Amino acid sequence: MDMEKAAYRTYVGPGSLYDIIGASQFALSVSCGLREQHLLLDFGCGSLRGGRFFIPYLRAGHYYGVEPNQWLVDQAVQQELGADMITLKAPHFAAVNDFSVPFDVPFHMIVAQSIFTHTGKDLMRRLFASLAGAISPEGLILATFFLDNSDEERSGWFYFDSLPNGQKVLAAYRQETVCAFAAEVGLHARHIHFWHPAGQQWFLFSKTAERLPTAEQASHFYGLNVLPPLP
Ligand SMILES: C[S@@+](CC[C@H](N)C(=O)[O-])C[C@H]1O[C@@H](n2cnc3c(N)ncnc32)[C@H](O)[C@@H]1O
Repeated sequence: MDMEKAAYRTYVGPGSLYDIIGASQFALSVSCGLREQHLLLDFGCGSLRGGRFFIPYLRAGHYYGVEPNQWLVDQAVQQELGADMITLKAPHFAAVNDFSVPFDVPFHMIVAQSIFTHTGKDLMRRLFASLAGAISPEGLILATFFLDNSDEERSGWFYFDSLPNGQKVLAAYRQETVCAFAAEVGLHARHIHFWHPAGQQWFLFSKTAERLPTAEQASHFYGLNVLPPLP
């Protein structure tokens, strides 16, 4: 199989970046304090681009994924993780598409990578409310956004398979909009400059401002591009 063209990989983004976009969300999560005993929610986990790193790392039963496209999870289990890993690490999955979090556990960390980059303001608000309800008082939400001044005005979900040709599948926002919508549901926000392979911007959110990095600490988040990739 040509891995870069595999449908379960290209559905979530460029096939050539499947490995590094997964590795970089894992690296950032560990840099932000994720340890094996924590409960992690991977919201919109897709084909386990990040999940294939998180699931082996976390203790059994500590990984939770929300993903409406069950085929992505199934293919990733078949092609990336294997059934034995599922038996050993017992991850939880929910195939809901209403932006709810149908797990009643206090998550220490929530990762939403390349999710808000597809939402209009209506869904951005709904998802912020859901994630704020699911994160524990001391927990951290890590999420990516595209930033620019267009401040997306469409509503709904924009995606490769859901829009007529020619319409853009990504949403971009002003930083002020992201922070204001987070504040509406009691979340403090911090933009960090952690390198993202596709130019998305990482934000950290928490219910307490003290849990977020200071400006000085935020300057230590470089990312995985300190050295160029090996030839
Ligand atoms: C660009 S992919 C990102 C996947 C994953 N977070 C990653 O980084 O590989 C967006 C994902 O959001 C999922 N998605 C679409 N609608 C959703 C919904 N209502 N709730 C949760 N996830 C959704 C898609 O199926 C897809 O897997």
